[in-house]
Amino acid sequence: MKIENRIELTRTDITKLEVDAIVNAANTSLLGGGGVDGAIHRVAGPELLAECQTLGGCPTGDAKITKGHRLPARFVIHTVGPVWHGGKTGEPELLASCYRACFELARANRLQTIAFPAISCGVYGYPIPDAARIAVRETRAALKGIEELERVVFACFTDEVFAAYQTAVREETK
Ligand code: AR6
Repeated sequence: MKIENRIELTRTDITKLEVDAIVNAANTSLLGGGGVDGAIHRVAGPELLAECQTLGGCPTGDAKITKGHRLPARFVIHTVGPVWHGGKTGEPELLASCYRACFELARANRLQTIAFPAISCGVYGYPIPDAARIAVRETRAALKGIEELERVVFACFTDEVFAAYQTAVREETK
């Protein structure tokens, strides 16, 4: 299938998605927080926190996988996006690295469907249009190399995020 047809934008709460894996925008402790992280832990239940406690945290730009527990998704891929400090302290590279690490886990676990939130675009303050561009660019690159991956969903929680991804997808396919 063409790469464009394997990318889907949707205005939704990521915890509702029945996909192989949802991605969590976590922090380096992997022990929960607010935003999408809080929502995922609430729905997945205390078993997710218990599993996360065995992982020893995660560096910024990397990712770790757990089971989905009470979520409809089978797995959660926890990644740690960069905090935005103005863009000159490696933020774009670190954000791209998050997407690459998630796709590496998708490949290793033979996942067919994966959903992402807008990593770093909430509390961590990354400018949404720039983050959306990186997300779409890394996704297209990964899809070229991973045939098993049938569908990548961008779960947009706000109108602003949805609009930014629409623009990013349009720009990338020009
Ligand atoms: N489904 C999909 N997207 C969501 C949901 C949801 N249920 N809830 C929020 N978002 P954020 P960050 C969107 O702040 O910026 C946590 O405390 C939200 O609108 O969740 O990477 C962690 O523990 C935004 O577009 O993550 C870290 O400490 C996007 O998800 C820190 O926040 C990301 O916002 C990580 O900050």
